Amino acid sequence: MKSIVVLHHLLFFFLLFSHVSSWKKEEFRNCNQTPFCKRARSRKPQHCNLIATDVTINDGDLVAKLITPNRFEQNPDQNSTDFQPNPLILSLSVYQDGILRFKIDEDPVYNPPKKRFQVPDVVVPEFESKKLWLQRYTKGVIDGDSGESFFVYLFDGYEAVVRSDPFEVFVREQSSGKRVVSFNTHGLFDFEQLRVKKEGDEWEERFRTHTDSRPFGPQSISFDVSFYGADFVYGIPEHATSLVLKPTKGPGVEESEPYRLFNLDVFEYLHKSPFGLYGSIPFMLSHGKSHGTSGFFWLNAAEMQIDVLGTGWDAESSIVLPSDQKRIDTLWMSEAGIVDAFFFIGPKPKDVVKQYASVTGTSAMPQLFATGYHQCRWNYRDEEDVKNVDSKFDEHDIPYDVLWLDIEHTDGKRYFTWDRALFPHPEEMQKDLFSRGRRMVTIVDPHIKRDDNYHIHKEASKNGYYVKDASGKDFDGWCWPGSSSYIDMVNPEIRSWWADKFAYSEYVGSTPSLYIWNDMNEPSVFNGPEVTMPRDALHYGNVEHRELHNAYGYYFHMATSEGLLKREGGKDRPFVLSRAFFPGTQRYGTVWTGDNIAEWEHLRVSVPMILTLGLTGITFSGADVGGFFGNPDTELLVRWYQVAAYLPFFRGHAHHDTKRREPWLFGERNTELMRDAIRVRYTYLPYFYTLFREANVTGVPVARPLWMEFPSDEATFNNDEAFMVGTGLLVQGVYTQRARDATVYLPSDHTWYDLRSGTAYKGGKTQKVEVTDADIPVFQRSGTIIPRKDRFRRSTVQMENDPYTLVIAVDGSGSAEGELYTDDGKSYEFKEGAYIHRRFIFSNGKLTSVNLAPSTSKFESDCTIERIILLGHTTKSKTARIEPSNQVTDIELGPLQIRSGVRSTVLTIRKPNVRVSDDWTIKLL
Ligand SMILES: *[C@@H]1O[C@H](CO)[C@@H](O)[C@H](O)[C@H]1NC(C)=O
Ligand SMILES: *[C@@H]1O[C@H](CO)[C@@H](O)[C@H](O)[C@H]1NC(C)=O
Repeated sequence: MKSIVVLHHLLFFFLLFSHVSSWKKEEFRNCNQTPFCKRARSRKPQHCNLIATDVTINDGDLVAKLITPNRFEQNPDQNSTDFQPNPLILSLSVYQDGILRFKIDEDPVYNPPKKRFQVPDVVVPEFESKKLWLQRYTKGVIDGDSGESFFVYLFDGYEAVVRSDPFEVFVREQSSGKRVVSFNTHGLFDFEQLRVKKEGDEWEERFRTHTDSRPFGPQSISFDVSFYGADFVYGIPEHATSLVLKPTKGPGVEESEPYRLFNLDVFEYLHKSPFGLYGSIPFMLSHGKSHGTSGFFWLNAAEMQIDVLGTGWDAESSIVLPSDQKRIDTLWMSEAGIVDAFFFIGPKPKDVVKQYASVTGTSAMPQLFATGYHQCRWNYRDEEDVKNVDSKFDEHDIPYDVLWLDIEHTDGKRYFTWDRALFPHPEEMQKDLFSRGRRMVTIVDPHIKRDDNYHIHKEASKNGYYVKDASGKDFDGWCWPGSSSYIDMVNPEIRSWWADKFAYSEYVGSTPSLYIWNDMNEPSVFNGPEVTMPRDALHYGNVEHRELHNAYGYYFHMATSEGLLKREGGKDRPFVLSRAFFPGTQRYGTVWTGDNIAEWEHLRVSVPMILTLGLTGITFSGADVGGFFGNPDTELLVRWYQVAAYLPFFRGHAHHDTKRREPWLFGERNTELMRDAIRVRYTYLPYFYTLFREANVTGVPVARPLWMEFPSDEATFNNDEAFMVGTGLLVQGVYTQRARDATVYLPSDHTWYDLRSGTAYKGGKTQKVEVTDADIPVFQRSGTIIPRKDRFRRSTVQMENDPYTLVIAVDGSGSAEGELYTDDGKSYEFKEGAYIHRRFIFSNGKLTSVNLAPSTSKFESDCTIERIILLGHTTKSKTARIEPSNQVTDIELGPLQIRSGVRSTVLTIRKPNVRVSDDWTIKLL
């Protein structure tokens, strides 16, 4: 027995060593080693010679054929006699609120050898109901063209144009003719049509020791997209880079790889790299002073590469574009699939994220507990370890909500099982945690151990539920459990089977307070090409892995989330954390930024990574606090807590080779600092929860880049060291050792209140503010009201009936506004109106609470408001009267923050004790 264990461990360490030592560049392909990327990148502008013809209106869409009029004359490098490009079909639809969708695919009448893959289950069903059925188009000729153009009305003074020759699709303002976004302006569109293999065709591709059989040959698509009035472009996660996407090509640009979108398990990733990480969202936003914001989304799940082209990259081409419009050009390349593209016309930042959310859905409403602090480690060893860690949080008065178990809790990495030697009483353990209001999360990965005694494997192999290899056998790859197969989650029947595995009777040892973590779902395959599944593996419906690779983890996440929903009869909101993601992931759960490193630069890059996820739909995200690999020094660990406390998903996690780093292990002073950081998070939970609801309704993220709130303040456009939490808080991260001050840009003409001291700063300026080890600079913007809960508890459950504090920061005219949303924190009753939603309005020395919930709301709360803090209020009121009770209450000086060592005092209305669910007014006397 022992020797088997030792062998197992040796193997384990061998595996770890081969992957973990550091990022191995040569294990991953670059663009030059990726033939479709190399081909696309070497094409010159005006390569495309298609024209749009046979335009009709069909089923409310504008439909056209894209044909090559005289290919020998126009494109002499395509002289091969067997090359007969068939016409392609373009169909273009218009949706409410400024969304244009167009598809380009092969025409089925020419019998292509295979139907190309279109990603199902991403576009929400409600989106179709927003379609505006086109009845007509108008025709016209744009100067200098050799063909006609076709115009359809889009939205609010914008029109979509399909230009025939040269073929182009764009959106412009009707009155000025100014362009917003365009497709194929530079003629880089190329569509490799499927064809039957001929003698002499070399379709196989080799990379290192792997061969991709490529039975369907080349099928890539590439094109250029231009954003007008753009100063910067953003989005297309996941990359460990700045918020602004730097050019990858062009004169004077340090040439780099294109931004790659290919979900990969990258150990110890590098910051400042366009390298593709665990998830992919092919959605780019542009922002600039002149047009504002616009967006482009390509729904495609194959490997994608994207170049941001520096100004002047097209100097040699003869294309003439209006020179008065600033522009950013981009090149999009994908290995397979179809063109299924969306233009979002904005024009405000929040319009674009809303437009994108109307296509892919808004975030699920999280349970309240999930917005608290999570404690994770690879691994908490056994039940005693769990008990100890849990009790230390209480001993040190540090709140937390969830304790996590990584892969070692299972019986030999067989998910849904427990190592009964280490965890003999999993149910009791969960119940014990829950008796203090705490939850547990266990890991469930998509690789299934090929062991005939393992029930999941038995059923999956018997039912044919695994992804197949190119020869049609169950794909067998190497992962944590050794030889493994991978569930084919693209099939809805298999997802439903998987979801049933979360029933309490199936997942033995699970209880209702247990939630799930999906890791390794890129999918990670240790012995596969680039540590993932071969592209010629086969999925349900004869879809090649290459066609849907980037969506594999999404379907796995979806099935797991459905499992948690099912086990409670659809009554309990699921919590599932996933490492891989795709557009739509926000509907199923939370993501984190994977295996980062305990370095200052990784703390810094976590902010733009999380802001980018928020811009592209996934607001509930975070980075491992402290860094997954390596041992953070104490100062870095403390700073990480201080920054992460203001980011949406807040979890400490560490690799098993690192030293223990629970918050009480670094001496009393540091315990106090980390406790304060976590407590600050808990005081702001009512605000976070309100913002999560806003994200749930509108798609606007909880943590926002400054330019989203201040779209005309150019100084904010490339700032990614600070961020906004909602409209009210500006958080300035501290990313260097021994910082004694921070340079903070405070936007616009607002006043900003430093929440450590109450000091007021003028906006529109860069300020130098003092920094101590105790906290990072956080400011409340004038004109806002923020709800808090200031009492200290063990977890969110104990806070349920706690009273609120309102912090009012008045603006120059003496007014401010803010909202509070609350519900039962766990069920779906809020969808039937069971919630409290108030708007607080302060003006003329009067605070009024206005109801925004339906009057029939059945949600009750006895919570009161115990304190109202006034920042920037100048009149010397001594008392306040509460209507309708007519009770009078005192105004005196009180603390701004309730935490260790902070002494600043501000004007405070003491104990008004009004109920948060009632209508009332408080008038300063
Ligand atoms: C392609 O064919 C045309 C006309 O037959 C000829 O003029 C041209 O040189 C050929 N190009 C190549 C690359 O063979
Ligand atoms: C909010 O979240 C719930 C699930 O948590 C989801 O069903 C709903 O569609 C989301 N959006 C809105 C507008 O409620």
